[in-house]
Amino acid sequence: MAKPTLSFVCQSCGAAYSKWSGRCESCGEWNSIVEEKPLSDGPAKKALKGRGRRVALTDLATKEAPPPRTRSGMEELDRVLGGGLVPASAVLVGGDPGIGKSTLLLQAAASFARAGLSVIYISGEEASAQVRLRAARLGLTDAQVRLAAETSLRDILTTLDEERPDLAIIDSIQTMWADNVESAPGSVSQVRAASHELTSFAKKRGSSVILVGHVTKEGQIAGPRVVEHMVDTVLYFEGERGHQFRILRSVKNRFGPADEIGVFEMTGAGLAEVGNPSALFLSERGSPAPGSVVFAGIEGTRPVLVEFQALVAPSPHAQARRSVVGWDGGRLAMILAVLESRCGIPFAGLDVYLNVAGGMKISEPAADLAVAAALLSAREDVGLPPETVVFGEISLSGALRPVGQMENRLKEARKLGFSTAILPTGGKSGGTGGMALNQMSDLAGFVGDVFGAG
Ligand code: TYD
Ligand code: MG
Repeated sequence: MAKPTLSFVCQSCGAAYSKWSGRCESCGEWNSIVEEKPLSDGPAKKALKGRGRRVALTDLATKEAPPPRTRSGMEELDRVLGGGLVPASAVLVGGDPGIGKSTLLLQAAASFARAGLSVIYISGEEASAQVRLRAARLGLTDAQVRLAAETSLRDILTTLDEERPDLAIIDSIQTMWADNVESAPGSVSQVRAASHELTSFAKKRGSSVILVGHVTKEGQIAGPRVVEHMVDTVLYFEGERGHQFRILRSVKNRFGPADEIGVFEMTGAGLAEVGNPSALFLSERGSPAPGSVVFAGIEGTRPVLVEFQALVAPSPHAQARRSVVGWDGGRLAMILAVLESRCGIPFAGLDVYLNVAGGMKISEPAADLAVAAALLSAREDVGLPPETVVFGEISLSGALRPVGQMENRLKEARKLGFSTAILPTGGKSGGTGGMALNQMSDLAGFVGDVFGAG
């Protein structure tokens, strides 16, 4: 029998290699490649021969009722799920260890139970007593959630098959152990097998399944990325350790819009929902300091105002520093290059620090102009006019491009007490939401207008 090849697997992305190397070529992760026994050759050899069953075909016009969803009553969670939990769906909730996944899901379990679903919560990490203690602390003991501390996938599947709950929560997928797979719990093969079994269970039996997955930097255990394609919905729970804000973000959703966010605050009594995130992210703001600019952004279906803060200082090093938190480093380099070559404002020899306040992560290109404004404001040590929000995309030519959902952005800004918006010319003109508009067609014009020719 030929020796199986491909027995080294990246624990971060699941790529397989025939020999070990220090860095995964597929995802770029270091030290994430681990030897694993290949999955059994399985039925592949004998399958696909002979006649199978004829599959019923249908057409696109067949009417399908929208899936009946159950709302948990936790507004922030329901919105991220696309309007509630879809029956027989599989959801992955990923996040760093200690960020609050177990807390979130215990609260969700209780809310769904109160909404009438039968819920089973299986913890592979904590003893039942520990989970009960947390439930008591969070005031959830009255909810009809059934609990087990178990890691054996076979036993869990047998139990779920008999109980047929509406919702099963598995915390976490990395602690599950399938006894038919030879590698250690937490390895890619185990995580894959467990996720596959649990998602197929969801589809076959009509139960919804929520899987918790730890994101790992070290690559010791398999990351949730190997599970992402198997589930219907992928949510990431993120936040900075030092901040109390937590953001639940949908990165994939077969039943709703992706890129939706839910905002929570970690308190002594669990996670509290934050219905108006703009007010929260801006609450730390005093009078506008140089380098600080408010960006009117859109997260999913919701407008959110966030503050960009920049610091520009002479660099003591030969190579000036570029440090970014909450925004893309490559995009920052691009904006610095455009400022330099299209507006004649050099940043060579200057350290640049850029930060999004409150631990938010922004990925919209619509924030380009706000970033440029923060950089200029910090460099020139001139604050922007008060009560001003900024948004717009910057192209490599230095032109400003209009962005979507202008009216929503303006309305939200107005609601939070802003009176002026700096934005690109053009774009679909809706209402101004009562804001004064200062429209510009290129970055050089913006520099001249706001900072007096730079
Ligand atoms: P946890 O849900 O255990 O994180 P995860 O499952 O993602 O590893 O949450 C861990 C942190 O949350 C822990 O450091 C303490 C904090 N916490 C609170 O601040 N308030 C609370 O009410 C609870 C339950 C936890
Ligand atoms: Mg946990």
